[in-house]
Amino acid sequence: MGLLALTGLYVLVFQAWAQLEVSMEDRVEVLLGNVAEIPCIYSMSQLNGSLLVQWFARSPSGNEVKIYYKDKVVEVVSMGTDYSERINVSHAVDGTVGSSILTINDVRVKDEQEFVCQVQRNTSHTKLLVFSTPSVPHIELGSYTPTVNLKREEIASCEVNNAYPAPNITWYKNRLLLQSSVNNMELEKTVTQNPSGLFIARSTLFLQVEKADEDAEFYCEVSYFTIGGLHMMESQIFHVELHYSTTKVTISVDSPHRLVKEGDRVKIRCKGNGNPQPIFSFQHNSRSLNVELDHVVLDNVTRAHSGLYKCTSLDQVDFSELTDSLELMVHYLDPVVITSGGSSDMLDLGQHVSLTCNALSSLPTNTTWYKDGTVLEEGHILNLLNLSYDMAGTYVCEVHAPSLAELKRQNSLNITVRGKPVMVEEVAMISLDAEDSVNLTCSVKGHPIPDIQWNLSDNQTILGERITMTDYTIVSVITIRATSLVNASCVATNELGSAQAFSDIKPIQKPTATTAIIITSTRSTKEGNGVVIAVIIILILLLAILGSVLYFLYKKGKIPCGRSGKQDLMKEKSSKDDVEMKNSRSEEAVLLQGVNGGKRSPSDQ
Ligand SMILES: *[C@@H]1O[C@H](CO)[C@@H](O)[C@H](O)[C@H]1NC(C)=O
Ligand SMILES: *[C@@H]1O[C@H](CO)[C@@H](O)[C@H](O)[C@H]1NC(C)=O
Ligand SMILES: *[C@@H]1O[C@H](CO)[C@@H](O)[C@H](O)[C@H]1NC(C)=O
Ligand SMILES: *[C@@H]1O[C@H](CO)[C@@H](O)[C@H](O)[C@H]1NC(C)=O
Ligand SMILES: *[C@@H]1O[C@H](CO)[C@@H](O)[C@H](O)[C@H]1NC(C)=O
Ligand SMILES: *[C@@H]1O[C@H](CO)[C@@H](O)[C@H](O)[C@H]1NC(C)=O
Ligand SMILES: *[C@@H]1O[C@H](CO)[C@@H](O)[C@H](O)[C@H]1NC(C)=O
Ligand SMILES: *[C@@H]1O[C@H](CO)[C@@H](O)[C@H](O)[C@H]1NC(C)=O
Ligand SMILES: *[C@@H]1O[C@H](CO)[C@@H](O)[C@H](O)[C@H]1NC(C)=O
Ligand SMILES: *[C@@H]1O[C@H](CO)[C@@H](O)[C@H](O)[C@H]1NC(C)=O
Ligand SMILES: *[C@@H]1O[C@H](CO)[C@@H](O)[C@H](O)[C@H]1NC(C)=O
Ligand SMILES: *[C@@H]1O[C@H](CO)[C@@H](O)[C@H](O)[C@H]1NC(C)=O
Repeated sequence: MGLLALTGLYVLVFQAWAQLEVSMEDRVEVLLGNVAEIPCIYSMSQLNGSLLVQWFARSPSGNEVKIYYKDKVVEVVSMGTDYSERINVSHAVDGTVGSSILTINDVRVKDEQEFVCQVQRNTSHTKLLVFSTPSVPHIELGSYTPTVNLKREEIASCEVNNAYPAPNITWYKNRLLLQSSVNNMELEKTVTQNPSGLFIARSTLFLQVEKADEDAEFYCEVSYFTIGGLHMMESQIFHVELHYSTTKVTISVDSPHRLVKEGDRVKIRCKGNGNPQPIFSFQHNSRSLNVELDHVVLDNVTRAHSGLYKCTSLDQVDFSELTDSLELMVHYLDPVVITSGGSSDMLDLGQHVSLTCNALSSLPTNTTWYKDGTVLEEGHILNLLNLSYDMAGTYVCEVHAPSLAELKRQNSLNITVRGKPVMVEEVAMISLDAEDSVNLTCSVKGHPIPDIQWNLSDNQTILGERITMTDYTIVSVITIRATSLVNASCVATNELGSAQAFSDIKPIQKPTATTAIIITSTRSTKEGNGVVIAVIIILILLLAILGSVLYFLYKKGKIPCGRSGKQDLMKEKSSKDDVEMKNSRSEEAVLLQGVNGGKRSPSDQ
């Protein structure tokens, strides 16, 4: 920069070739604390390097102090001035143009004055301008929250320091400049200087606010001069909390977010549309509740908590009173009651029973019946027709309100079915082992659990018996030796009746000398069914003879074969199998039902 200035001045000076010419720039700008270089250019038709050069500092009040002297003999920096320790002067000559540059170190605010350069008797002067960039503007909110009303309220102060020269502070709301001609506003400005001469500028904004200003963005802006001209700097954006009165108050159920049921924790809240929130008081059915907050918490509510809740607010800004109310309904579902038409839960086999399930509720409910985890019926009545032993067990009834899933209760009823024994299967041979022993099974249902007795026709000893029992079923397995024709019968008896089943075991001699056995079994609940059994056995024997005859005839080729596949299968079977089993059941279920249905024990428990 110095060189550029030198060249410019040289052209200027060149025109006045003949005379001594001293020239300087109008102004020299420097930042506080930096080094200032103040050039002084002179020209003469003849330069001989022994000129008199002096520098003076001239204060704004006009005081001039010599700070430097140089002639062909001496060079002196004046003692006892502000500059004694801080300046250097350099000199250069190039043909007819010479320069003297005054260098000031560590520039201070006080250095902002005129500097005079004297060459021989001719002088020129310049002004040194010192700048200090201000700190970032600092916002301080007013000590009281402004109220929305017709007055101007203190909003905030904006302060910058270490500025030189003095800066200006302006205010913005939502990016628009606040002006007293447009906005109802007022500024209180102070500018002070610290001992080193730097400025502290402060501006306090007073503004008439409206409710919308709650969301407004405010900031202040500092404009200041520095090297190169005018600069700006903005503060952070800030918001202002405002106080305004409540014009509407609202009471509502804060939680739960669904219909309220007994046992819930209910939070009822009151809210005003002003700031700050008003002071609330609550009432339930005209009885006041002791709360100091903006909400009421009801723990574990019952239906007694239903009713009218009223909230009254007292505004803290304008002391007005407002109210709002709410009707709270606490829904309930009473315990589930199951009835079985007056009788006890000990019921008879074959009986019809109607189970009713009820629970009192404040909401419409649906009822579901379950047994063993599966749904039996939707609806509060469950009809059980012709009770069987399989229908005994636990019946669960669940009542729930579709509009409030959490409102759900259940109860259960254990049904016991009582009745005489019923044979589950005929007497069955399980297997025949190498020692020609046979296991016979007798399986009976009944409640109370029947006793089982075996009767073997020919004094056969029972080698072993194994009994297994569940709630309603008893199974007896006996092991006997199948050496001769055996008539086995199994009799099951409880206090309500008995049932009997028979089987014939016939050893058959075969060429291979292994024993084959034919078991014929029947079951019955009545004694003395020998005739029926005999007829059936005869029928079976006849069928067997007929089969043999037909087989014989076929072998002789007397009968043409239509189903050769089946024939082959039979052939295979007869040659392989050691045992042939033929069972016949006398289907007496109807008869049995008739007997059981008519019977009812007089000693129902
Ligand atoms: C320099 O000073 C002399 C006497 O003071 C004056 O006559 C002359 O005009 C000056 N030169 C310029 C260029 O001002
Ligand atoms: C140098 O300048 C001085 C003062 O202006 C003058 O007296 C002297 O004659 C000059 N010398 C030469 C060689 O020009
Ligand atoms: C400048 O002047 C100061 C005192 O005024 C001195 O201590 C310093 O050495 C000088 N520096 C130069 C580069 O001449
Ligand atoms: C400050 O404001 C005054 C008056 O409007 C103006 O003259 C001056 O130049 C401003 N200064 C700055 C640094 O903006
Ligand atoms: C809720 O109230 C019922 C009836 O008053 C009571 O039996 C139950 O223990 C209470 N539960 C709690 C968590 O307080
Ligand atoms: C409740 O019962 C009504 C009538 O009994 C039936 O229409 C409705 O679908 C049931 N709702 C549910 C959720 O089971
Ligand atoms: C009742 O049940 C028994 C056995 O389950 C059945 O044999 C009988 O036919 C049933 N009676 C009626 C009237 O359905
Ligand atoms: C019903 O029977 C189950 C299992 O058999 C038993 O755990 C339960 O306690 C019984 N309930 C009633 C009410 O007797
Ligand atoms: C008969 O039952 C007994 C035990 O109950 C068993 O040890 C035996 O193996 C069974 N006999 C046959 C032939 O299955
Ligand atoms: C056993 O069977 C015989 C004839 O087969 C009969 O006379 C007797 O009464 C039966 N005993 C029992 C306890 O049923
Ligand atoms: C069966 O046993 C009884 C008594 O133990 C005996 O009197 C009878 O003769 C025996 N009958 C046969 C066929 O062994
Ligand atoms: C086995 O019992 C049936 C009928 O009860 C009878 O007809 C048959 O003669 C009996 N057999 C023997 C060997 O006692």
